[in-house]
Amino acid sequence: MFSVGHPAPADIKKDGSAFDLPIAMGILASTGQMHSIQHLKRFMLVGELGLDGGLRPVRGALSIAIAARDAGLAGLILPDENVAEAAVVEGVEVRGARTLLQVVRFLEGAGSLPAASVDREALFRTASTYDTDFADVRGQEHVKRALEVAAAGAHNILMVGPPGSGKTMLARRIPGILPPLTLEEALETTKIHSVAGLLGNGRSLVATRPFRAPHHTISDAGLIGGGSNPRPGEVSLAHHGVLFMDELPEFRRNVLEVLRQPLEDHEVCLARASISLTYPAKFMLAAAMNPCPCGHHGDAQRHCTCSPQAVQRYMARVSGPLLDRIDLHVEVPAVPFRELTDGRAGEPSEAIRERVRRAREVQLTRFAKRPDVHANAHMSPRDLHHFCRIGEAGDALLRTAIARLGFSARAYHRVLKIARTIADLEGAAEIGTAHVSEAIQYRSLDRGSAG
Ligand SMILES: Nc1ncnc2c1ncn2[C@@H]1O[C@H](COP(=O)(O)OP(=O)(O)O)[C@@H](O)[C@H]1O
Ligand SMILES: [Mg+2]
Ligand SMILES: [Zn+2]
Repeated sequence: MFSVGHPAPADIKKDGSAFDLPIAMGILASTGQMHSIQHLKRFMLVGELGLDGGLRPVRGALSIAIAARDAGLAGLILPDENVAEAAVVEGVEVRGARTLLQVVRFLEGAGSLPAASVDREALFRTASTYDTDFADVRGQEHVKRALEVAAAGAHNILMVGPPGSGKTMLARRIPGILPPLTLEEALETTKIHSVAGLLGNGRSLVATRPFRAPHHTISDAGLIGGGSNPRPGEVSLAHHGVLFMDELPEFRRNVLEVLRQPLEDHEVCLARASISLTYPAKFMLAAAMNPCPCGHHGDAQRHCTCSPQAVQRYMARVSGPLLDRIDLHVEVPAVPFRELTDGRAGEPSEAIRERVRRAREVQLTRFAKRPDVHANAHMSPRDLHHFCRIGEAGDALLRTAIARLGFSARAYHRVLKIARTIADLEGAAEIGTAHVSEAIQYRSLDRGSAG
């Protein structure tokens, strides 16, 4: 039979209705029902076909356009609804059609299908603003500072505080203080969202750092990806952005288990009988939890009704290997009503982002010869000796604190890493006592956990 189309990209399902259009065209061409087939080979065709000959949108238009470009084809023809998404890809002509007949006429050279044009830079500029700002958050200065430190070193962070203290509000604002997304990063993230079918409705480019907040009832497949036609999971949808896990202790054990691998490798490998895929998953983890089951342990304004054992059991749920991958812990107290209603605006996200950007630049220079390390959070214990020069006084303070607070060796490494980031925010080459003493505050859950 006459062969049409080209191998579809690996991350596109191959047995789907997206192949209605190429199959229909193949039949028309091979049974001599087309006047001319000379254009057919130059285009990749994709689309679901209705019984009335109308074309319906498909999932993954952006990845398909990338595949068409990489296959060296002149262009891609796909349903109108997918044009905006596919046209974001440079170097391939994208044409939209509404019906099978339009496609036939165009390929015969008898009709036209306009080529879409997109100004990617302009699209990127207009779409790359955030609709949340730290200026809206009253008080919580030390939490904002902790989030700035986390963003500056790409550290994962855990916020502990009672309901209503603003944990979700604060977390939502993290993407806006991370360094601006580059167009290249935007395209990587867009590709994943395209495969997951999350684009369309006027959204063709993910131009801001994603914020993903899966509910704690999520399955392991939902979190890291899966299914018979493996779909990207939340960790990949959060690529280059933030994964927010609210009520961390409520997530299923196995879900927290599978999270460890992407946290370590910054990608997910999904192996199925028929197909094996790797999706990128480089994200910053922000987690939140109550301090106890009732939520008010340590709250100055409300009374905690939990037994000490219940509090301990609750905290123990997040201990161990997962907590080990979270560099900063910060307590988020309830803000007194008076402070909430006082009109003073906080510092805008833009100002924080600028400090973060500068600190990241220092790190890019530091790790110029290490392609797998871009930020302080990614340093291995061996890197620490190499890159974390600490002054004598700072070192003495760190050792005393470690002994007194009962920190483990791992916690020691964490503190050193965070201190490095704090020094970078300040533009200091050497880690000093002020950096160490601030860093120690961000390890509150380690106290007394010697081992
Ligand atoms: N520091 C704050 N400044 C301004 N508004 C706040 C602050 N803390 C809480 N709020 C308000 O309270 C609401 C509930 O906060 P939320 O982030 O959902 O708390 P949590 O996630 O800790 O339960 C927010 O939507 C916001 O309107
Ligand atoms: Mg919340
Ligand atoms: Zn309680």
